[in-house]
Amino acid sequence: MASRFLNRSHFGRPENRGNLMTIEEANALLEEWVPNPKLRLHMRQVAGNMKAWAIEKEGADAITALKWELAGLLHDADWEKYPDQHCKVIIEELEKRNIDPDVIQCIASHGPAVFGVEPKTSMDKMIYAIDELSGFIHAAALIRPTFYEGLTVKSVKKRLKSPAFAAQVSRDDIQDAVSKIDISLEELIQFIIDHQKDIE
Ligand SMILES: [Fe+2]
Repeated sequence: MASRFLNRSHFGRPENRGNLMTIEEANALLEEWVPNPKLRLHMRQVAGNMKAWAIEKEGADAITALKWELAGLLHDADWEKYPDQHCKVIIEELEKRNIDPDVIQCIASHGPAVFGVEPKTSMDKMIYAIDELSGFIHAAALIRPTFYEGLTVKSVKKRLKSPAFAAQVSRDDIQDAVSKIDISLEELIQFIIDHQKDIE
């Protein structure tokens, strides 16, 4: 696969700050771009975690919380149809729609090793940390008879140490992402379990 480095450091335009779309509009885009319901669920889970983090940990107002939620909801929107150009296509679509640059920058930051964009803001850092861990925790829940019920931080950490489990999830990325934020891996795992367990 060709490099997916974006080779850019600025996304969107400053004059579009505050231009957002509604969650309904973002969901309509997902319905069109992402036929795979499991991938749509992943994006709703990342969105739910992002929104909850913004409100509970950053004291975000409604507009800021919507930015965090939209970035989560749309971050993999082009993954299914344009895997070779993943990230580039959704970024350009959001730029065309004059969406807030913070949201676009955040999406561009969700995989520094893949897209070559360093997370700057706390929204950027959190999408990087939440994205891989959210998918990993969901995989850990799916193999349990009781699903999220009784899923512990300890068991997630044990699975992280087992390379064969959800092997596509980069443990290095998780470690790198957590090193950029102020909370521990354990606290973040618990936060994600608590906030994504009921998202359907
Ligand atoms: Fe993702």
